[in-house]
Amino acid sequence: MNSEKSRVGIAGVGTYVPERVLTNLQLQEIVDTSDQWIRSRTGICERRVAADDEAASDLALHASRRALANAGVGPDELDLVIMATNTPDMLFPASACLLQDKLGAKNAGAFDLLAGCTGFIYGMAVASQFIAAGTARNVLVAGSEVLTRILNWKDRNTCVLFGDGAGSVVMTKAPDDRGILSVALGSDGSGGDLLKLPAGGSLFPASTETVARGQHYLQMNGREVFKFAVRAMEDSAGEVLRRAGLTGADVDFLIPHQANTRIIEHAAKKMNLPMDRVAVNVDRYGNTSAASIPLALEESLQAGKIKDGDNVVMVGFGAGLTWAGLLIKWYDYKANNGR
Ligand code: UT7
Repeated sequence: MNSEKSRVGIAGVGTYVPERVLTNLQLQEIVDTSDQWIRSRTGICERRVAADDEAASDLALHASRRALANAGVGPDELDLVIMATNTPDMLFPASACLLQDKLGAKNAGAFDLLAGCTGFIYGMAVASQFIAAGTARNVLVAGSEVLTRILNWKDRNTCVLFGDGAGSVVMTKAPDDRGILSVALGSDGSGGDLLKLPAGGSLFPASTETVARGQHYLQMNGREVFKFAVRAMEDSAGEVLRRAGLTGADVDFLIPHQANTRIIEHAAKKMNLPMDRVAVNVDRYGNTSAASIPLALEESLQAGKIKDGDNVVMVGFGAGLTWAGLLIKWYDYKANNGR
């Protein structure tokens, strides 16, 4: 990104997970799997499941209210609401518009952003461009998923992996020596078949046939996505560091997309980072796709693992295929008396 432009930081973070917990032991009762297999192959122990009346915009609303309160920004001060999701309330209208209305963000434009599990980093990248260009002052980026609604609970290859949750950030200007230092976005649509929800769009409109074929469920080639993920994490981290003129030795903390502890540990090893400087919560939430990075960010902040001035790398990968990295020199707005 152009370092001549204004810097952009994260003024507040907020998250929300549904109350209902689904453990591996409970999953053993409904599908041919075991706690031992899930833990050893993925690191996941449990995940959250949204209540029947909760949709993605509802989860995002809780998270976003908390992010606004933490940032000290009122909903009417937002210029833009971006919602990254693979599980919108409906195909349209955009869930971001529903969220905008529920928040009372009456001065904000709103749109959804679909970039698989990479959506949250894509969203922050877009938000930072609006702010750096002076087109927006405060932008809310929400990542929210109700993935349990699109899982085939008879398919052990996928149903054990995902969970529901939401996380939001409020982004605004940061001082010149803090904020986002670099961003790198990637995509390769030739890998689109590896992770998809085939039906319900214009190619395969929902019909009794698509339902009979199970095309309304998430489908994934896990082994191929795994290989891609390992490469994508490493490349994205390397690229954002290169663009900022830094090396792995300059990284204080890593927030990787939470899909599998084996993928996370590989990324940490490649960057020579001990695991106490890497965010991990996939054990408790599973893969929450576009929500995983803000969930991990807030936990790390609350645990005091990220301090003012730290170089924090966020990396993600997902359906599309997409991948991205973002390097931010953390600015603690509260410690520095607000915006
Ligand atoms: O955010 C992006 C979304 N996706 C991902 O990040 C997923 C990336 N991929 C992965 O994390 C891993 O590939 C998985 C966790 C999905 C699978 O792990 P794996 O080590 O690649 O296992 P595998 O697919 O090679 O399957 C090994 C065996 C198979 O049995 P056979 O064919 O060797 O007899 C599977 O049928 O494990 C079996 N298996 C299971 N067994 C018990 C697959 N799922 C399960 C299960 N319980 N839930």
